[in-house]
Amino acid sequence: MFNSVRFRITLWYAATLAVTLTLFSILVYNSLEKSLDENLDQLLAVRAEGVADALETYLETERIEVGRVSAAAAKGGAFYKIAPELVRLHTEDPNQAAVELRILDASGMELESSRGASGAPDLPERTLRDALKGNAAYDTIKIEGGDRAENIYRSYATPASGTGGAVYIVQAYRSTYHTQFALRNLRNMMAALVPLIVLFTGAFGMFFARVALRPVANMARTIRQITARNLSLRLTPPRGRDEIRELADLFNAMLTRLEDSFLSERRFIQDVSHELKTPLTILKGELEVALKKARSAGEYAAILQSNLEETEKMSRIVGDLLTLARFDNREVKLERAPVNLPALLEISVQSLSGMAQKNGVTIRLSAGADIPEPEGDQSQLGRLFLNLLDNAVKYSASGGEVRAEVFSAAGRPAVKVSDTGAGIAAADLPHIFKRFYRADSSRSSSGFGLGLAIAKSIAEAHGAEIKAESRPGDGSAFTVVFPARITKPRDA
Ligand SMILES: Nc1ncnc2c1ncn2[C@@H]1O[C@H](COP(=O)(O)OP(=O)(O)O)[C@@H](O)[C@H]1O
Ligand SMILES: [Mg+2]
Repeated sequence: MFNSVRFRITLWYAATLAVTLTLFSILVYNSLEKSLDENLDQLLAVRAEGVADALETYLETERIEVGRVSAAAAKGGAFYKIAPELVRLHTEDPNQAAVELRILDASGMELESSRGASGAPDLPERTLRDALKGNAAYDTIKIEGGDRAENIYRSYATPASGTGGAVYIVQAYRSTYHTQFALRNLRNMMAALVPLIVLFTGAFGMFFARVALRPVANMARTIRQITARNLSLRLTPPRGRDEIRELADLFNAMLTRLEDSFLSERRFIQDVSHELKTPLTILKGELEVALKKARSAGEYAAILQSNLEETEKMSRIVGDLLTLARFDNREVKLERAPVNLPALLEISVQSLSGMAQKNGVTIRLSAGADIPEPEGDQSQLGRLFLNLLDNAVKYSASGGEVRAEVFSAAGRPAVKVSDTGAGIAAADLPHIFKRFYRADSSRSSSGFGLGLAIAKSIAEAHGAEIKAESRPGDGSAFTVVFPARITKPRDA
């Protein structure tokens, strides 16, 4: 199961999801932390500045109304009138976020505070100095009691000028507890949710992958049943047009090809046995008859002559089969040289002239001008043309005419052998190049149906195309078209 595609897909998927979710969580967490911190800072600043402004305004008004700085005011009399009220107003409103406020004097002594003196975070020296210079400052201050969030404070301190050159420092502060609490909650939730989501989607992914791959499992089951005796079995392609469907179709097509070649192999063996059996039976019969009683030398000679003919026939079949097998196995070494087609055809025509005369068939040879010479093996091509011409003469009636033409088909050298014989039925035409195929097997022709098969093997070994056209009653035509010659530089 750990080796299955299903498992691997799920694993990759879950891993990707885990990484993405984790990154996403970190991003959310960081941006929340940042905005909470900013919010708190803003809140503290607004409160402290508000109190500082109100304080300054009040003390200023007081001075103008009184007209002079009284001794009491200089000591902070007016300040003490207003400070507790201000602090109360700015901290006790239940509609506003809870913030603590303190007002200190220039030395950092607490003058007023929103809550008891206990536990307030004292301002660092540097902030005090800054405040006296007129600058506000933020601080994160730890009070006694350790690292717990409720003991860590964020503070903002801003100066307010009092009467007679006095300086007050307004400090707003708040424990970071709320911020930390919200962040901790988020952290816990994410730590629990991310693995859960990954597990959950992983399980679902596994399930869906199984559904998606079910056709593959079905195919595997069928494939297991296919053997050489069982090649007609086919996969049931899944519905839909997906990759699996394509695979099933391709596999079925391959099975069809295999089955075809398997069947034709079987038929071929049957044909070979059949073709060899006939002459062997004749041979055996003749030998048995010869041995029955003593015969004259003349009689023996006649029997041996007949034996020789049957043996020659068998030897021709075996020779042809060997040739075909060697072409199949690419064992035939072809010589490659420019071939003078008209000259080669002339030789074939010559060797058939005896048979042509006997059958009352005339052979005519014609060649166009400036036909390029194909490259090839002279003796093999001679055999190809001989087979074509032999058929043409053999299957022509007396008085018929056979024509061999050399011409150029779109710049490619070509040879056409046509006759005025009986032609080939349309049903036979696709099969005549097959081994042992004879259109009319009852016709006691001299061949075995291997001639065209050999011709085709020779043509293909030369990269040439061979095709047959025929209309029954109108004669047949066989055309060989050679490839356009690629003029290679001669080997050094
Ligand atoms: N020129 C032709 N005219 C009519 N039929 C032909 C011709 N050439 C071939 N055929 C048909 O094709 C079959 C196969 O030819 P071939 O392989 O040469 O076998 P064979 O000549 O031994 O019969 C022949 O048996 C014949 O029926
Ligand atoms: Mg033949």
